[in-house]
Amino acid sequence: MLDALSRTFFLSLAGSEPLRRLASRYGMRAGGFARRFIAGETLEDALETARQLTGAGLLLTLNYLGESVASIEDARRAADGYVRMLGTMREHGLTPRISVKLTQLGLVHDPAACEANLRRLLDAGGDACFVRVDMEHSTWVDPTLDLVERIWRDGHRRVGVVLQAYLYRTPDDLARVNALGIGVRLCKGAYKEDRDVAYPVKADVNAAFVDLTGTLLRDADYPALATHDPHMIAAARAAADEIGRSRDSFEFQMLYGVRRDLQASLLDDGYRVRVYLPHGDQWFPYFMRRMGERPANVLFVARSLLHER
Ligand code: FDA
Repeated sequence: MLDALSRTFFLSLAGSEPLRRLASRYGMRAGGFARRFIAGETLEDALETARQLTGAGLLLTLNYLGESVASIEDARRAADGYVRMLGTMREHGLTPRISVKLTQLGLVHDPAACEANLRRLLDAGGDACFVRVDMEHSTWVDPTLDLVERIWRDGHRRVGVVLQAYLYRTPDDLARVNALGIGVRLCKGAYKEDRDVAYPVKADVNAAFVDLTGTLLRDADYPALATHDPHMIAAARAAADEIGRSRDSFEFQMLYGVRRDLQASLLDDGYRVRVYLPHGDQWFPYFMRRMGERPANVLFVARSLLHER
């Protein structure tokens, strides 16, 4: 209950312009509090952090922050940015793996242009690239799955999707994408949803995550389990052992700056761990979702601010 309240509170603050301005003043400068969760505002910041993380044995997916762009021109500019990013990653010897949001590529304004933008990224990325399509609010689940399926059926195999355990519909969606062979990242879900579409109680979300993890580990080629929750991770490890799945046949994924201790201990135990590394100047909504997930993060920010003052 408290979890849901805190999440709702922070998600509603994510739209606050005065708060965004205040956070911008302090959050992103060198050593600023937002730097814990976001590499910086520029691609160079992200590449520098990427080098450190890969040096520590972590795998990466890079994200250029932004969602719900204001116009189709902004969506095209975002896609241009991703195309440049894929090229630069290759130049720097990084595997070009990115995570994108379809609302950033224009899904709200013009679905056909959004699809063209996504295809442009896949074409620009080369053979080694992989584009993970993040999942957003439940309003966008059908258009997102339909678009990814169309692209998959056209022969693109370097695209994957995200499913959210908190949605009641997800077992059906998982059956659909598993039947096609599309790679899945499973997460709990981060948006404000009505109780008629998503479990309102955390214990039910967790139970759904464990069930879906079992299905993925049994049926999918190479699933990605995105969670920082030690209980979810323990359940996944136990299920994989029981099924006899090798540790390199699936991966855990975590957000940059979150549970770095767990990331390191999973690596030590021989698991693959991928970090979602975001950068860009549109960082405020992403940052507020991280605050809503864990109220202790607010204390971390408050302490950083006091320290800076
Ligand atoms: P949960 O929120 O239950 O937290 C369990 C424990 O994890 C906490 O007690 C704490 O120890 C730790 N923890 C969790 N979040 C933390 C934080 N922000 N700071 C510090 N500690 C924290 N969502 C979505 O809707 N669509 C998407 O496409 C994605 N994509 C995605 C990619 C990756 C790589 C990750 C890791 C997550 C996502 N998410 C997402 C977000 C996801 O839905 C979810 O909101 C967060 O991962 C938090 O859920 P947990 O499973 O970590 O557990």
